[in-house]
Amino acid sequence: MGSLRRIIGLLKPYRGMVILAFLFQSIVITSRLIQPLITRLVVNEVIIAGQQALLLRLLLSLLGLVLVRASSGFLRVQLMERASQSVAYDLRTGLFRHLQNLSASFYDQNRVGEIMSRMTGDLEGVRDYLAEGIVTFFEQTLTFFGALIFMFTLSWQVALTILTTLPLIAWVAFRFRKRIGPVFREVREQSAQLNTRVQEDLAGIHVVKAFVREDHEQQRLELENRKLLALHLNITDIWSDYVPVMQGLSEVCTPLVLAVGAALIAAGRMDIGTLVGVTGYIWMLTQPMRMLSQIINGMTRASTSAEKVFYYLDLGSSIKDVQDPQTPEKREGHVVFDRVSFRYDEQLVLDDISFEALPGQTVAIMGATGAGKTTLVRLLSRIYEASAGRVLVDGVDVKLQAMRALRKDIGYVPQETFLFSESLFENIRFGRPEAPLEQVVQAARAAQAEPFIEQMPLKYETVVGERGIGLSGGQKQRTAIARALLIDPSILVLDDATSAVDMQTEYLIQQHLERAMQGRTTFVIAHRISSVKNADQILVLNQGRIAERGTHQQLLALRGEYWQMWQDQLTSIAGEGEVG
Ligand SMILES: Nc1ncnc2c1ncn2[C@@H]1O[C@H](COP(=O)(O)OP(=O)(O)O)[C@@H](O)[C@H]1O
Ligand SMILES: [Mg+2]
Repeated sequence: MGSLRRIIGLLKPYRGMVILAFLFQSIVITSRLIQPLITRLVVNEVIIAGQQALLLRLLLSLLGLVLVRASSGFLRVQLMERASQSVAYDLRTGLFRHLQNLSASFYDQNRVGEIMSRMTGDLEGVRDYLAEGIVTFFEQTLTFFGALIFMFTLSWQVALTILTTLPLIAWVAFRFRKRIGPVFREVREQSAQLNTRVQEDLAGIHVVKAFVREDHEQQRLELENRKLLALHLNITDIWSDYVPVMQGLSEVCTPLVLAVGAALIAAGRMDIGTLVGVTGYIWMLTQPMRMLSQIINGMTRASTSAEKVFYYLDLGSSIKDVQDPQTPEKREGHVVFDRVSFRYDEQLVLDDISFEALPGQTVAIMGATGAGKTTLVRLLSRIYEASAGRVLVDGVDVKLQAMRALRKDIGYVPQETFLFSESLFENIRFGRPEAPLEQVVQAARAAQAEPFIEQMPLKYETVVGERGIGLSGGQKQRTAIARALLIDPSILVLDDATSAVDMQTEYLIQQHLERAMQGRTTFVIAHRISSVKNADQILVLNQGRIAERGTHQQLLALRGEYWQMWQDQLTSIAGEGEVG
C-alpha cells in the first residue's frame, strides 16, 4: 500500500490537472445521480398526476444531463491521460538518470534484460494505474456512496436492505486481494526473467548461431514463456473464482429492492415513482461491487510494478562524490598507488600494490588473465574504489576528487570495445562531442584507424552497428583508441587495446602512439613483450601482487617470470618464422 501512496505522490507536479479531472469526474457522477430523480418526477407528476406540460422540460433536462456528462467525461480523460503520461515521462527520465549514476557493481549484479523490463513493462503498469485505476476507484466509490445517500433520502428501508450485503462483499474482496497479490508479483518477476533471456540471446546471437544452439535457446525461452503463461492462467483462475461470486452478490440486490419496494407500496408507504427512482440507483450500487475485483486487480498490479521501479530508484550509488571535492592544482598525470588493496565482495583481487608513475611516463602492466590488471586501472578512474590504501592522481586521493572531472582527464580504452550504433565520426568524438572533423581525423591517424576508415564507403560517416558490428576486432580497438586520444587526457589507459590487431598493425600503432603518448602518463596492459619493452617501468602482476618490477633490461636480468615470457615469445616467433 505504501507504494500506491507513492505512485499517487508522483502526480503532485500535475496537481492542477488532477484536481480538475476529479472535478469533471464528479460532475459526471452527479449527473448520473440526478437522473433517477427526474425519472421519478416523470412517473409521479407526468404519468400519474397527468401534468403533460412538465414532460418536455423534464426530457430536455435529461438531454442536458447527457451533454454535460459527455463533455465532462471527455475532459476528464484528456486531463488524466496528460497527467499520467507526464508522470511516466518524468519517471523514465529520472530512472534513466538514476541508472546512469549507479556504480559499476550494480551492473555486475543486475542484468540488462531485467532493467529493461522495469523501464518498460513496470513503468507502463504504473502509468496505467494513474490514468485509469485511480479514476475508476474514485468514480466507483463516489457513485456507490452517492447512490446510497440518494437512496436513503428516497427510502431508508430499501437502502438499509442493500447495506446488509456489504460485509459479505467486503470479505470476499479482501480474500481476493490476498490471493492475487503474490501472483502479480511473480508475474512481474517472471516477465523480467523472460526479457532477460530474450535480451541475452539477441545480444549473443552470433554465438548462438555459431554453436548451432538455436533449438536449445528456443527451448529455454519456451520454458520461461510457459512459466509466464502458467502464472497468467493462475491469475485467470483466481479471477474467475471471484468474479461470479461478486457479480452474484451484486445481482441479489435487484430482487431484494423489488421485494422491499413492493411491500412498502402495498403498505402505502411508498409511491410508484419512488420505486422506479430507487431501481435507477440499483446499478449504481451494484456496479462498484462488481467492479471491486477489477479495482483490486488494478491496484495490486500497479503496486507490484511500482515496488520494482521504486526499488531501483531507491538504490544508492556505492561510489559518490564527497561533499567538497578537491581539485588537483595541476592535471599532469602523476599517479601514485599507495599500499592499495581491492576486493570484489570476498575475493582479494589486488593486494598491497604500491608504485609511482611520474607525469609522462609509461607504465606497462603484465600478468596472466585474472591477475588483476583491469581492476588496477579501474581504480584510477573510480569505476571501483580501493578497499584499502590510496590512489593519488596529481597529489589528491581519487576518492576526494570529483568523479566527472577526474574521468574527463583519463582516456580509457577498455578491454572490451563498445561502440554505439552511430557514425565512426560520432563514436570517435564521444568524449568531446564538439570536436571538429580535423581533430577527429588527427586522433584517428594517431590510433592508426585512418587507413581503414578511408577505405570505408562513407569514411567517417560510416555507421557502425550496435557494439561495432561490421568492424573487425582490430578496427574496433583502433576506433576506441582514437576516442580516448581525442579527449586529450593527461592519463591514457590502454587495457589490452591492441590484443585484436596483428603484430604489423600493432607496430604501426605503437609508432604513432609514441607521439600521442608524449606528455601523457600511459598505462599499457599487454601480453606481448614487444608492446611493453620500451615502458619506463613494467609491473608484473601475479594473483593481485606485484611480483616483479623494473625496466625491460632489469626484468630480463632477474630471470624470473618476465624473462620466462620473453623466452616463450621469442621461441614462438622463431617457430612461426620457420613455418612461414
Ligand atoms: N566485477 C567483478 N566482480 C567480481 N569479481 C571480478 C569482477 N571483475 C573481475 N573479477 C575477478 O577479479 C580478478 C581479476 O580480474 P581482472 O582485473 O579482470 O584481471 P585481468 O584484467 O588481469 O585479467 C579475477 O579473478 C576476476 O574473476
Ligand atoms: Mg583484463
